This record gives sequence, C-alpha cells and structure tokens, in this order.
Amino acid sequence: MIKVAPSILSADFANLQRDVQLAEKAGADSIHIDVMDGQFVPNLSFGMKTVADLRPVTSLTLDCHLMIVEPEHFVEQFAKAGADLIGVHVESTRHIYHVLQLIKQAGAKAEVVVNPGTPLSMISEVLPLVDQVLIMTVNPGFGGQHFLEPMPAKIKALAAIKQEHGYDFDIQVDGGINATTVKQCYDAGATVAVAGSFVFDSSDPAARIQDIKVATN
Ligand code: DX5
Ligand code: ZN
Repeated sequence: MIKVAPSILSADFANLQRDVQLAEKAGADSIHIDVMDGQFVPNLSFGMKTVADLRPVTSLTLDCHLMIVEPEHFVEQFAKAGADLIGVHVESTRHIYHVLQLIKQAGAKAEVVVNPGTPLSMISEVLPLVDQVLIMTVNPGFGGQHFLEPMPAKIKALAAIKQEHGYDFDIQVDGGINATTVKQCYDAGATVAVAGSFVFDSSDPAARIQDIKVATN
C-alpha cells in the first residue's frame, strides 16, 4: 500500500490546523507543504512560519517541498521550524550536493526533486545521499493539474536504479494524483503519493485518502 502525503496547498488556508488534523485522523502518513517563491514557480504560498505554527498541532512528518531559487539560503530555517523532510529541486541550485548535505547537517531528511523535463541522469550522483526522491508528475506551481502520462516510465527507471544499487530511498510522486493515476505510479515503484486537490477539493477528504490507499492495496 502506498503512503499518502496530503498537500495543504489545496486545504483551507484559514483552517490549516483543522485540515491537517483531519488528514492525520484519516490515516495520512505525512503532510506535504508546498513552499513557492514566485521565482522558481509562478506562484506564492507558505513560508517557515507556517511550518513552525503547524509543528505543535500534528505528530505527522512535515514534508516541505521547496520550489524556491537557491534553497541553500533557507534549508536550515525550515529544519529549525520543524520540517522533518526537506525537498529541493535539482534545477533550483548550482550546488545540489551541498544543499542536500546542509539539510542532513540540520537534522532533517533530505529529498531531491526532479521536474518532468529533467532527466534522471541529473541526480545520479546524489542518490546515495537522499532519503527520498520526488518525481514531479506535473509542472510545479499549481494544484489541480493533469497527471503527465509519460511519468510512470520515469518512475520505473528510477526504481530500477534503486534496485540495482541497493538504495533504500522512498520514491514520491506529486501532481495530478487520484485513485487512478496513483495505481500507475505504485505499479511503477512509487512508495509515497502527494495528493492535493483530489483530497481537499472533496466534501469528504478522509474518504479520498482511503481511496488512494485502497487503490494500491
Ligand atoms: C504543485 C505542488 C503539488 C500540488 C499538487 O507544484 O508541488 O504538491 O499541491 O496538487 P494536486 O494533487 O492537486 O495536483
Ligand atoms: Zn508539492
């Protein structure tokens, strides 16, 4: 069964505590927090204070997906705010190896993220360092987009590399995930699914979290 990380980008920003606690009660495995700077992606969202304020209201892993340029300037602050896992895009920094080292030194788990158009060869050297790899299944920036159909092949290729080298990182997918697309990702080797609009644009978010789990059972 796949692990589920609801993305609060589609939650009610005036009721984040309520929505996070609802997700926790419904069996979510972590909370996905999308951080956007208006530069790396054409949207704005949360910052460190959101993470700090959510830290005491849930015992779930806080998974921060940084869509910001030069994340090296912020990873320590996110770790201090209470992020358990910090994801940085390989396209967002000149020094991906260094940023991942900084995340680990700060005491958080480290994740490298690849955009749909970025080949896996861009991250091969950092795979021994990471706890999780995030394969974007949409172009980052917004919730509610359509799943990109060629991405399961990329997940499969990463799963093969993982097996060949005996790596034990999780493979997360993010974008356009619903009860149908999650199955394709899971069958290809994904171990964690982010879901935003599928969960929070529903009148019954808890049922949607279960739908994703059941689809991969
Ligand atoms: C997009 C974000 C996603 C977003 C996913 O840039 O990284 O986490 O919340 O939203 P859905 O699940 O609606 O595609
Ligand atoms: Zn995300």
